[in-house]
Amino acid sequence: MENLDWKNLPFGYVPTKYNVRCYYRNGEWGELEVYDTPMFNLHIAATCLHYSQQAFEGQKAFKCPDGKVRVFRIEENARRMQATCRGLIMPEFPTDRFVEMACKVVKLNSEYLPPYESGASLYIRPLMIGISPQVGVSPATEYMLVMFVTPVGPYFKGGFSTNDYAIVRDYDRAAPLGTGTYKTGGNYAASLLANKMAREAGYTCEFYLDAKEKKYIDECGAANFFAIKNNTYITPKSTSILPSITNRSMQQLAKDMGMKVECRDIPVEELETLEEAGAVGTAAVISPIGKIKDLGTGVEYVISKDGKPGPICTKLYEKFRGIQYGTEPDIYNWMTVIE
Ligand code: PLP
Ligand code: COI
Repeated sequence: MENLDWKNLPFGYVPTKYNVRCYYRNGEWGELEVYDTPMFNLHIAATCLHYSQQAFEGQKAFKCPDGKVRVFRIEENARRMQATCRGLIMPEFPTDRFVEMACKVVKLNSEYLPPYESGASLYIRPLMIGISPQVGVSPATEYMLVMFVTPVGPYFKGGFSTNDYAIVRDYDRAAPLGTGTYKTGGNYAASLLANKMAREAGYTCEFYLDAKEKKYIDECGAANFFAIKNNTYITPKSTSILPSITNRSMQQLAKDMGMKVECRDIPVEELETLEEAGAVGTAAVISPIGKIKDLGTGVEYVISKDGKPGPICTKLYEKFRGIQYGTEPDIYNWMTVIE
């Protein structure tokens, strides 16, 4: 792909050659099928369109300096998609077949793997939808799982640097016992207005408090929140946030660096006392936070005094990227090498 500007890729959609699909009919999953078109026909009464029977995932593949291609913790994405499917009464797709499908779609599109030096990666997007018609609110009987890939750069412009966030109190992305723990499109539709409001106020992204009491930090746009204080990695315990695979991995790395890890309620006022903080997720990796402005109360919390990423965020980021690119030992077997 000579004509792609790898170094300046946004986090966006670039067409690639092939996608891989699998259909669920008559109570079972079929064979993997390769397509060279991004289009498909869909019934006008498909449940994904009307009642949001939809589950998706996101993961990255990397071209490493040793010439190998590695994918990060893809089995965990398979498991989380299974959890989303259970929550939306969709059929679960087996972990081993999910891994096989992800490896296949990366291999078929290997010419789109960004070079190591670019810092970009190949984003894998698995998507499952209900395709059979229903007009009453009930689950479909037929489903399609598709995986496509697209080369992506950093989620936020500027890569590893601080961003400012805005607490939006006017909207919730998910209810305490709602679908927040599932990776389903409706949560993202529900986030669009809050995101627009934050951006229009001049901030990179929106920040949510818990929907019930509006007292605690919940989700950080399309990423989890973490903070560093007193040699401790702190992250919210909540029933309305997505269980982030990247966050869980960072907790392990923080422990390995001799830090404590606390998963607990984080009152919004505690933002004043943090040494460092960041957004954490597949797309965000670690995106250190500069300031957080509460658009409701007008209070501004300055996290990074000099506007630069802090030392612990930097250390975690470098260790994590090193594991993904095969330059640091992968002691937990997080990486799948694509042969
Ligand atoms: N929170 C939300 C709402 C997300 O969309 C994502 C991205 O998948 C995350 C957190 C981070 O999860 P992960 O690290 O598994 O990508
Ligand atoms: C992620 O993969 O980290 C995301 O949050 C994906 C986002 C574009 C919905």
